[in-house]
Amino acid sequence: MDMNVFIGKVPKAELHLHIEGTLEPEALFRLAERNKIPIKFDSVDALKQAYQFNNLQSFLDIYYEGAGVLQKQIDFYDLTWAYLLKAKEQNVRHVEIFFDPQTHTERGIDFETVINGIYDALSDGSRNLGISFCLIMCFLRHLPESQAMETLSQALDFKDKIVAVGLDSSEFGHPPSKFKRVFDKARQEGFLTVAHAGEEGPPEYIWEALRELKVQRIDHGVRSLEDPSLIAELKRSQIPLTVCPLSNIKLRVFKTMQEHNFKKLFDRGLCLTVNSDDPAYFGGYVAENYLALQNAFQLTRKDIAQLAINSFEAAFINRDKKDTFIAQIKETMAE
Ligand code: HPA
Ligand code: ZN
Repeated sequence: MDMNVFIGKVPKAELHLHIEGTLEPEALFRLAERNKIPIKFDSVDALKQAYQFNNLQSFLDIYYEGAGVLQKQIDFYDLTWAYLLKAKEQNVRHVEIFFDPQTHTERGIDFETVINGIYDALSDGSRNLGISFCLIMCFLRHLPESQAMETLSQALDFKDKIVAVGLDSSEFGHPPSKFKRVFDKARQEGFLTVAHAGEEGPPEYIWEALRELKVQRIDHGVRSLEDPSLIAELKRSQIPLTVCPLSNIKLRVFKTMQEHNFKKLFDRGLCLTVNSDDPAYFGGYVAENYLALQNAFQLTRKDIAQLAINSFEAAFINRDKKDTFIAQIKETMAE
């Protein structure tokens, strides 16, 4: 089996995916028309031309603007359904999806419009596409703690639909410790926790996410390599990193894929997973991320299978379910 085919075929989980970041330019234009939202680009091509980023913030500015076309529950449903079809094509069997309620509530869209649209599509995906799921609600870290606390209160009415809380948006100047009290409350309420840390921000932010937010996973975490004691801790604890290779190149965390530190982290024995982050903006879904790494580092099938195994080990699913998926990965290996 050719490597490309193997990557597509091996069962995978995706654990770092912002649903708002799956809004493809064509869908963005369609929704803008449907909802009569003016956009400042004349064509899909002109919009695509604008997808050239210098750093995280330059991406976020465009990403939040794009999300403005999402107005009604059906828009959130359609967005999520389109992602699930893509996931199905690439044999993604389990997804843990981030959504950013504040991106929408800030512009007057109700929390329930957002979550119900996304959740209904995920339920249909589970029934009709066989893709299991968890929802992770992220707080926007550039906004004040008080607004995150308010968002957490709103989420309590939907506790049965949300498995974990996370932290995203502009990292510099917004350390995890800013949200310690919010995460304390979230854990008391029974939510699991994750946080973006060490994407652009320093290793200290990863330590804070671990010690103060008590996270089960670190999203990105690539700057951990700068701190040997942190690497030792991540290796010991096997706290997973959800790495997003194409995102890191597009946002210039690394200049080229060859210069990405993925292989170094992998060789140190950390639990790494491969994910797409915001595939509509970064040029690829999860299979393209595996393939980009494979090309840059000549990963073997065994490496790819290990990364797929890690994706299930790191997922918020029970041991039985992990073992079932892992057995299927081994069967694909043997084909
Ligand atoms: N980092 C931080 N916030 C985000 C990202 C990211 O990669 N994608 C969407 N929101
Ligand atoms: Zn992200």
